[in-house]
Amino acid sequence: MSLPPGFLDDLRTRASLSQVVGRKVMWDTRKSNQGKGDMWAPCPFHQEKSASFHVDDQKGFYYCFGCQAKGDAISFVRETENVGFMEAVRILADEVGMPMPAQDPKAQEKSDHRTQLADVMEQAVKFFRLQLQAGAGADARSYLDKRGLKPEAQGRWEIGFAPDTWQGLWDHLIAKNIEPDLILGAGLGKPSQKGGKPYDTFRGRIMFPIRDARGRCTAFGGRAMDPNDNAKYLNSPETELFDKGRSLYNHGPARTAVGKGQPLIVSEGYMDVIALGEHGFGGAVAPLGTAITESQLQMMWRVSSEPIIALDGDTAGLRAAMRLIDLSLPLLEAGQSLRFALMPEGLDPDDLLKAQGAPGFQKLIDGAVPMVQLLWQRETAGQVYDSPERKAALDKTLREKIKLIKDPSIRGHYGQAIKDLRWQLFTTKRVGPARQYVGSRGKFKGGKWQPPQNAMAATKSSVLASALNPEITEHLREAIILAALIGTPEVTEEFERGLESMTCRSTDHADIRRLILRNIGADAGLLRENIFEALGPFALENLLNAGHVAIVPCIRTPGDVEMVRMTVTEELAKLDAVRGLNAEIADAAEDLTGVADEDVTYRLLQAAKAVQESVRSTEETKVEFDLGANGAKMDKGERSAFDALMETIRFSKGGT
Ligand code: UTP
Ligand code: MN
Repeated sequence: MSLPPGFLDDLRTRASLSQVVGRKVMWDTRKSNQGKGDMWAPCPFHQEKSASFHVDDQKGFYYCFGCQAKGDAISFVRETENVGFMEAVRILADEVGMPMPAQDPKAQEKSDHRTQLADVMEQAVKFFRLQLQAGAGADARSYLDKRGLKPEAQGRWEIGFAPDTWQGLWDHLIAKNIEPDLILGAGLGKPSQKGGKPYDTFRGRIMFPIRDARGRCTAFGGRAMDPNDNAKYLNSPETELFDKGRSLYNHGPARTAVGKGQPLIVSEGYMDVIALGEHGFGGAVAPLGTAITESQLQMMWRVSSEPIIALDGDTAGLRAAMRLIDLSLPLLEAGQSLRFALMPEGLDPDDLLKAQGAPGFQKLIDGAVPMVQLLWQRETAGQVYDSPERKAALDKTLREKIKLIKDPSIRGHYGQAIKDLRWQLFTTKRVGPARQYVGSRGKFKGGKWQPPQNAMAATKSSVLASALNPEITEHLREAIILAALIGTPEVTEEFERGLESMTCRSTDHADIRRLILRNIGADAGLLRENIFEALGPFALENLLNAGHVAIVPCIRTPGDVEMVRMTVTEELAKLDAVRGLNAEIADAAEDLTGVADEDVTYRLLQAAKAVQESVRSTEETKVEFDLGANGAKMDKGERSAFDALMETIRFSKGGT
């Protein structure tokens, strides 16, 4: 329908924006100036306590300084009432008493035709529902019963049955004086190829009415009861009423439920939506048997800013999720994102609800992961990053994905999130002798994202490891490095690479390292604050208490840049030496597993000795060199913070 020129301007002038908005918000009376039409309120489009939503009544525009929502009275009604443009115009026109212009005759005709088709569909809904109760529906009833759908639920979802005859519905509708063309136009019948009577589209199927957001029945989904039927589901053909890619099953009721605070859950099938609804998750919708389209995504976002995608836990479901990521990346905006709740393997939401009930599903959606997490998983799953080229290839792919995001702020956040994930992958996943980087293989367990476990370089050589007991000393070395850099972060940048490749022996250390690296450029005070905020009050305390780390000179009195530089250089070098050798030993040990004889034992012992010797020699040569380069001369006891520490510990023990 087209509006005469000037109609909208007229409407905008007559409708008072502050009045329209005023029904949805509580004005901040102190901040607002009613006389000037300058009004402020907490924003209705995002969660906030302060009033950053501004209405300029004179200009007829609103703008939120928090979420950047902006528009006029029409867009406000569209957004808050979840209606289309024309519907919003109609609502506003009603309100200000402007008669809607007469429709042009063609459009009127078209809308009349659609109304007629919708009436036919409504007749079909009634017919199918009656058939389900009739004798012909006995099998269907017992099928539904077996699937756990009680008669009340069948009623709530208006489930019906199409009898297994050629003209059941056709004859019924014709007897009600409905034009054959309307039955065909509604997609309920098909013309016979042999010149006979048209026949029913749906035969011998359980019928699910599909309604649009306004509640009009636009289509049906029909499920075969026979597991061998070659079309498990048959949907209505596209008609004047039904555009598959612009429809969502349960759209209207879900919108209402979301309005009452329920999450919007997107599943794959009719039965999933129904099971969800029956378990109290009223905000469930499903596309209609095809991949989610852009229109459907936009429809979902109009209902909820962050729909939860709950696709089936099989490869098809995962693939659908991945396709959805590609589709949505360019469309992301503030207040327009997705979360993913992946079902346990082999289950769909219906199955899961049967197995674990509402609490099980709730747990799953509580653990839904943000889209960036899934994007990352897709790009890294099963990959090996054993060369700079491969790492660079990953960076390139991800950069290209992120470039697709049009919204600059969201793009920035994605970039940061990816950087964090990348960092985790490349610095804590060092595995095995060949210094391979194995792609992050985190997994979804019980719906919760489980990040990949840190594989430590020396885990395989545990026999030797315990013999040499490097765990404790290496843990201490790490603690010294971290504590020194926290006290004197000015030097961190010089050690960025060394710090990145350090094999942290505990997640505590890994966490602290991450924060140190992330805060390069921050001063000691800010760094401490950030660590405190991210890891809690005990992180620093624990670090400093570990094995008397706090008494190492450059940690006790921070700020001595030269001293810190030397200490960190030295400790990193030692860690590196041990790690390299441990890897080699692990390799040897692995080669020899199962060949347990004296020879093996002998060779392992030799290897172990080599580690000790090499560490010693690194201490003596490399460190000397580092010191030389720094131009500092110190005696041995002072030179190595670690040695100094060990001495102190020994001393304090000796004292008891
Ligand atoms: P599913 O095969 O997952 O079906 O298809 P379902 O919803 O779990 O149904 P039940 O529990 O086996 O009865 C998911 C959706 O894909 C469409 C339908 O919309 C279905 O709900 N579909 C599936 C079709 O359109 N045609 C088919 O043959 C199969
Ligand atoms: Mn399914």
